[in-house]
Amino acid sequence: MSDSATSGPGRDGAARETWATRVGFVLASVGSAVGLGNVWRFPFQTAENGGAAFLVVYVAAVLVIGLPALLAEYVVGRRANVDAIRAFSALGHRRFWFVGALGVAGAFWVLTYYSVIGGWVIRYAVDSLTGAYLAQPATYFETVSAGLPAVGFHAAFMLVTVVVVAVGIEDGIELATKLMVPAVVVLMVGLAAVAATLPGAGAGFEYFLTPDLTVVATNLGDILPAAVGQALFSLSLGFSVMITYASYLGQDDSLLVDGAAVATFNSLVGVLAGFVVFPLLFAQGVSPDTAGPGAVFISVPTALASVPGSLAGVRVGQVLGLVFFGIVLLAALSSSISLLEAVTSFVVDRAGTSATRPVVAAGLGTAAFLPGVLSALDTAWLSWFDAVAVNLLLPVAVLLVVGFVGWVLGRDAAAELAEGSGSLERLAPVWLWTLRTVVLVAVVGTVLLSVQSFLSGGVAPPL
Ligand code: PHE
Repeated sequence: MSDSATSGPGRDGAARETWATRVGFVLASVGSAVGLGNVWRFPFQTAENGGAAFLVVYVAAVLVIGLPALLAEYVVGRRANVDAIRAFSALGHRRFWFVGALGVAGAFWVLTYYSVIGGWVIRYAVDSLTGAYLAQPATYFETVSAGLPAVGFHAAFMLVTVVVVAVGIEDGIELATKLMVPAVVVLMVGLAAVAATLPGAGAGFEYFLTPDLTVVATNLGDILPAAVGQALFSLSLGFSVMITYASYLGQDDSLLVDGAAVATFNSLVGVLAGFVVFPLLFAQGVSPDTAGPGAVFISVPTALASVPGSLAGVRVGQVLGLVFFGIVLLAALSSSISLLEAVTSFVVDRAGTSATRPVVAAGLGTAAFLPGVLSALDTAWLSWFDAVAVNLLLPVAVLLVVGFVGWVLGRDAAAELAEGSGSLERLAPVWLWTLRTVVLVAVVGTVLLSVQSFLSGGVAPPL
């Protein structure tokens, strides 16, 4: 147990839940990290920002900024053993409660529209049975992405999220992600293998894997904040999710190893998504650089529509579509449950008993569903919610956590990271030093650049 385990909520002596296994914790974290960010955002951001060149900067951002920041959140959570808002008091720094609060508010904010996209994914998975999206992908997306049916699918997605979180840590989130994450990886590898066999797929690999460094050099001002933002969002940082997940650790294993595993897996799945999307698009002559929330929902079906052949009377394009949107759905769910858990954990810990969990999860799910209706009725709202989250809330929240852990928690943080790390504990001071300098400076830069890009994109909500 960490030395501050006694600071847990346990008001009436009620034991706080913990992960049953270390693997469970890692898979839940991977499940949170691997999500729409990897499949819906990553390939298209790559396309928008110069292909392989973006990939290089993204991988660097994960290693230099993402991983140290992930460890910072883990350290706060494991040492405090309590929800992300009260974690700061539990660590003896009550004044910094707002850091956790901003993160929890951010998780709630993201959940509102994340669930809308999740709803689209349910719809597309179901529609694979009829192939409805194959005929006119762009028009189809326009009709189904906004309006009452979109609200309905948003509700369905939120409902599933609520059910998993209501069951709890071990039997809910841990069990669900233990099934979902391996399924995502296996299916994705299979799909990438199929995509590689499509005639013309080679152009996709080339686009994705041969970086043109002059593109990086000339567009650094755009690529850098985009890649760092993508790394942070994709690792589920800033929104108190990783703090919350680490707070359910019952014993001290190596956070360094676990964090490295999560960062590696997450990047691999992002790259794997590229191995699915780019060969598919290039093989079918579809341009990948359509941006915006509809990108994956339009270009992938466009490509699928021209995949020849049929299996037992069903078009191959439909079968591939079912697998593809099935993967995206599992990935999205394992992330949305982490968003809802970050918020739920705060209320459940406050109550001091997990008996209230189902009610709390349902209440908060409903509360997030309602503002999400705006995004379900109009994709302009969705884009706005997303822009505020990614360009504003996310970098600022990460900056606060990194600053807190580096400069306020300081040596205590390094001591916590060392705990359970065995011979790797030598890396703890190096990590702290990196956090205080390189990471902090990079995140400050990211805040400035992304806030600037947010302001230049128009701040006003689409009223
Ligand atoms: N990492 C998730 C994704 O890539 C999104 C997410 C962000 C989930 C923050 C939880 C917290 O889709």
